[in-house]
Amino acid sequence: MHRKSFITKAGLILSGLPFTSFADTINSPNFLNYEKALKNTSVANTPTDEGYWKIVRDMFTYSKDFINLENGYFSPQPMSTLQYNQTKEHAINTRTSWFMRREQSEALEQTRKNLAEFLGGNLEELAITRNTTESLNTVISGYPWQKGDEVIVGNQDYGSMLTAFRQQEKRAGIALKIAQIPLHPKSDEELIQAYISLITPRTKVIHLTHMINLSGQLLPAKKIIEAAHSRGIEVMVDAAHSVAHIDFKPFDLGADYLAASLHKWLCCPLGLGFLMVQKKHISKIWPLMADEDFAIDNIRKFEHQGTRPPQTILSINEAIKFHNAIGSTLKQDRLRYLKSYWVQKVKNLPHVTINTPEEDARSGAIANISIRGMSPQALADKLLADHKIFSVAIDHPNIKGVRITPHLYTALSELDKLVEAIKTMA
Ligand SMILES: Cc1ncc(COP(=O)(O)O)c(C=O)c1O
Repeated sequence: MHRKSFITKAGLILSGLPFTSFADTINSPNFLNYEKALKNTSVANTPTDEGYWKIVRDMFTYSKDFINLENGYFSPQPMSTLQYNQTKEHAINTRTSWFMRREQSEALEQTRKNLAEFLGGNLEELAITRNTTESLNTVISGYPWQKGDEVIVGNQDYGSMLTAFRQQEKRAGIALKIAQIPLHPKSDEELIQAYISLITPRTKVIHLTHMINLSGQLLPAKKIIEAAHSRGIEVMVDAAHSVAHIDFKPFDLGADYLAASLHKWLCCPLGLGFLMVQKKHISKIWPLMADEDFAIDNIRKFEHQGTRPPQTILSINEAIKFHNAIGSTLKQDRLRYLKSYWVQKVKNLPHVTINTPEEDARSGAIANISIRGMSPQALADKLLADHKIFSVAIDHPNIKGVRITPHLYTALSELDKLVEAIKTMA
């Protein structure tokens, strides 16, 4: 058997779906002219003008073999960013170490400046990393813990961060206190108290997840940070899902440390994230990889990762440009509209539970659904097998259901299929 047909067949067997070629996925030959296309006066740039969103949809590539409602893992790059990334890779491949030795540093600094402006902050507090996991592990592993220090984490924080803190329990003798986050809080105060009530004289840090990946719940991070600061407690924020999804300036939260992955909602190439550390804290945090190139209070000490693909980092500039062509508010409002569109149609069905707060201020694109009598995996499997809808099962002690995450390229007709599928099953 030829290698290609073997791979194709293997793909078929693994996914149970037909194989799509790269060329088949290109939707718009005009993808590079997105700024002009989005200014098309025959459509309105509102969350509900499907003419506008069809133009956006065509700027992405997506599989036509299944309906992808699992965009929480990472976002596809729009074709323009993918093209930019590949063009830069080609250019760097031609100049090789010339670029690395003579041009890389300036290009990186320009990107840092651009990203800092996008995030609403100071470039001297911003390190470009590979992802949220690396960023937060840097702070958690590099923090000068004393035996007996206490850290408050949330019961629905991302697994890797909890693992990193548990390692510090064993290694540095810190103690973890677990805040129980209600799924349908009555007020912000209830969420603030979930953290603040656990503070003792030994508490050093609160770690909170801005948007919980399991349910899509958005926490009132700024208020929790203010309450913590007024008690002298530092706050680390995992903003993996809120950056470039919710319309806010991450630096404005006032967190001591904040991290996100740019391959999630900013639609950057895979392997990009950032770490924000307030200037006053930089000296005390050990970098994950040892550094002697920069002063200990220089944020760049956290970027000592050896050789990295620079074209990926440079693509941040193009991804920001694409994001801004739509705009943060419109993007957020569209993503919320897509979530509400299907949730409203199924939430009152018998046996259906939506495991995500309904209010706009408490969620974005992500919602979690369960159907009584079906395990999360059984529900996800049936959605795929019977309806070609790809989602992800969430089987967590506190949240059990299937996570549905539409994206800018999701069509309402796809969500209609989801609604029909849920009706059939419920
Ligand atoms: C809340 C949250 N934090 C952190 C991460 C880790 O992101 P990455 O794998 O890009 O480091 C994820 C990934 O889904 C997440 O949902």
